[in-house]
Amino acid sequence: MFNKKKIWHCLPGQEPTELDKKVMLWENKGKEVPSRDMVKTPEQIEGIRRAGAVNTGCLDAVAAEIHVGMNTQDIDDICMQYCKDKNAVPACLNYEGFPKSVCTSINEVVCHGIPKKEDVLNEGDIVNVDMTLSVDGYFGDASRMFIIGGKTTPEKEQLVRVTKECLEIGAETAKPFCFVGDIGHAIQKHAEKYGYGVVRDLCGHGVGLAMHEEPEILHYGHKETGMLLIPGMVFTIEPMINMGTWKVYIDADDPYGWEVISGDEQPSAQWEHTFLMTDTGVEILSY
Ligand code: MF3
Ligand code: CO
Ligand code: CO
Repeated sequence: MFNKKKIWHCLPGQEPTELDKKVMLWENKGKEVPSRDMVKTPEQIEGIRRAGAVNTGCLDAVAAEIHVGMNTQDIDDICMQYCKDKNAVPACLNYEGFPKSVCTSINEVVCHGIPKKEDVLNEGDIVNVDMTLSVDGYFGDASRMFIIGGKTTPEKEQLVRVTKECLEIGAETAKPFCFVGDIGHAIQKHAEKYGYGVVRDLCGHGVGLAMHEEPEILHYGHKETGMLLIPGMVFTIEPMINMGTWKVYIDADDPYGWEVISGDEQPSAQWEHTFLMTDTGVEILSY
């Protein structure tokens, strides 16, 4: 192929480094490789690390206060106040028409649930709280599941646990010079062992200088497909796992067109961390 544009470029006037050679080798073999600007500078990584820590603190604040009888607008208020206190900007607010600061997704809501006074948390509900914020222009993104009242059905408890395992297995699989598909394959294998459906319409993503950057991190797929992951890249893994079908639809009752529901309205769970790829594996920047 002579007309294919090169993605990876060496620094002008410098000998190719070991990293350059490794990436170019994969590119010449026809694999998808990152561009140089997907590798964050040390200064950018420090900024994202700070934003990630604030984002984690925000979810800690939610964890400390979430309880039976609370509504999801109360969760939004906690996140809003936390951002004010920390000089952080809630990234979801007004993002493509999203009306609130945080996503709160209860039971069969897969993701992008909109906080509202009417949505009261009942004992046994499983709720995902997904926060993204920026500090000094750097972004962190993470979400956790909460079991309201501390107890739910064995089925929902298993879904929440296995979904967390999916994230952990994805993180263990994410080694430097692996491919996005290696992560997706490992996650899909674990979820399907339990008969669960891995949501395909939504995925993880690069993050750091914006809320959503390249590459897409699919939570299903085949080994050695998708983009090569190299040290300095920052991205999320955020598997959405459905108890039943992997299919989803947009709730017709949501005037904003954001809320995603599982296709068979069975429960769905999600966990998300922001990760930095290092020379040995991933470091968690927000959880
Ligand atoms: N935090 C979500 C993610 O993990 C993005 C939510 S976009 C919003 O990518 F507008 F719905 F908030
Ligand atoms: Co998120
Ligand atoms: Co995300």
